[in-house]
Amino acid sequence: MKVLGVLGSPRIGGNSDILLDQALAGAKEMGAKPEKIILSRKKIAGCLDCTKCNETGICVIKDDMLEIHKKILNADAIIHSVPVYFWAMTSQMKAYLDRWCAFFDGNWAWHEAYKPKMKGKKIGLITVCGDPNVHTADPIVHSFKSTSEFSGLNLVGVVQVSAGQKGEIDKNEKAKNEAYGLGKKIATP
Ligand SMILES: Cc1cc2nc3c(=O)[nH]c(=O)nc-3n(C[C@H](O)[C@H](O)[C@H](O)COP(=O)(O)O)c2cc1C
Repeated sequence: MKVLGVLGSPRIGGNSDILLDQALAGAKEMGAKPEKIILSRKKIAGCLDCTKCNETGICVIKDDMLEIHKKILNADAIIHSVPVYFWAMTSQMKAYLDRWCAFFDGNWAWHEAYKPKMKGKKIGLITVCGDPNVHTADPIVHSFKSTSEFSGLNLVGVVQVSAGQKGEIDKNEKAKNEAYGLGKKIATP
């Protein structure tokens, strides 16, 4: 099983990164092959709504997202880890998510060619916010949950934690265990 980890924080070694590594380690324990993508190290422009992909299934923007599209298609599960920036997901994660547009036709159904790979694909989500109330990240959860319900993805689990300083979450064994557990769960056939 291929498990893709997608990091939406630009802070390498930060809280989302630490928890994503935990989740990927959990997936590995179950025999999965993990791969991590750090979005801030990629060139990913925002969707132009040019609608070309509605016919072709291929995005016209020639940047790093084209390779990531292929990795998404080939992954059995994708775990996203992202902090809250101004009560929403980071711009890196939003640009990435908007570019999923390429998988859909003009009626917002999966392109026939992609449907077998996308329908029921397992999705995981980890959110981090500086606010002590983990529900500050609920708008991000809403976005992934609605996208999953709308398109038939399988949102397997969500982990929501609070941490502010870089790497602070490393001391939070409960949060790390939850992320590890998400990785194990998502990699369970
Ligand atoms: C530009 C920016 C905006 C932020 N906005 C929020 C916010 O609206 N609510 C919140 O709880 N934390 C906010 N934070 C704090 C981060 O969510 C927090 O520091 C988190 O631990 C960062 O995760 P990371 O280490 O994975 O990058 C913001 C941080 C930055 C840099």
